Amino acid sequence: MSDRFLNRTTFGDVKNAGNLMTLDEAHALLYEWVPNEKLRLHMKQVAANMKAWAIEKENADEQTALKWELAGLLHDADWEKYPDQHCKVIVEELEKRNIDPGVIHCIASHGPKVFGVEPESKMDKMIYAIDELSGLVHAYSLLRPEKYEGMEVKGVKKRLKEKAFAAQVSREDIADALTRIDVTLEELIQFIIDHQKDAS
Ligand SMILES: [Fe+2]
Repeated sequence: MSDRFLNRTTFGDVKNAGNLMTLDEAHALLYEWVPNEKLRLHMKQVAANMKAWAIEKENADEQTALKWELAGLLHDADWEKYPDQHCKVIVEELEKRNIDPGVIHCIASHGPKVFGVEPESKMDKMIYAIDELSGLVHAYSLLRPEKYEGMEVKGVKKRLKEKAFAAQVSREDIADALTRIDVTLEELIQFIIDHQKDAS
């Protein structure tokens, strides 16, 4: 059992359903809690993918798309300052702010083996699938002189098979996450290439 297990299954309060923060508020939190620009970029990339997925694949309305985007933007917000207590600190902060429980559960379940919380909603499952793969696609873009331009799925798949490349990216989590959704690896890689390249 990981020492970062949250040891609970419910997050937030159902009476706060629909309570979100504005993107400006989320960015303020991000810039205050995450001085590391690279880590902030990771969260912005995951947020861009999540928002786009909600709109393009889940037919989400504006409010729902914002939910997905906020979960992406804040999922690692406590990682830099509280690595030993990641993601307990951000979960408790969002509970204090009376944020929608779906957003908080999504963040709490983005690493089931680490936090001990199973992804339940489609939003939960997608952040789990996108998080690590997004990191690998970005690492690959940094290697390429043309960055995201002309990047192909097969190039990403090749890097995925090279365990030493972006070694911190959990291949196991990517494979596990894909068993929980009706999306192929190829489809998800292409989606990420297309949607995170302009995040900044
Ligand atoms: Fe992440």
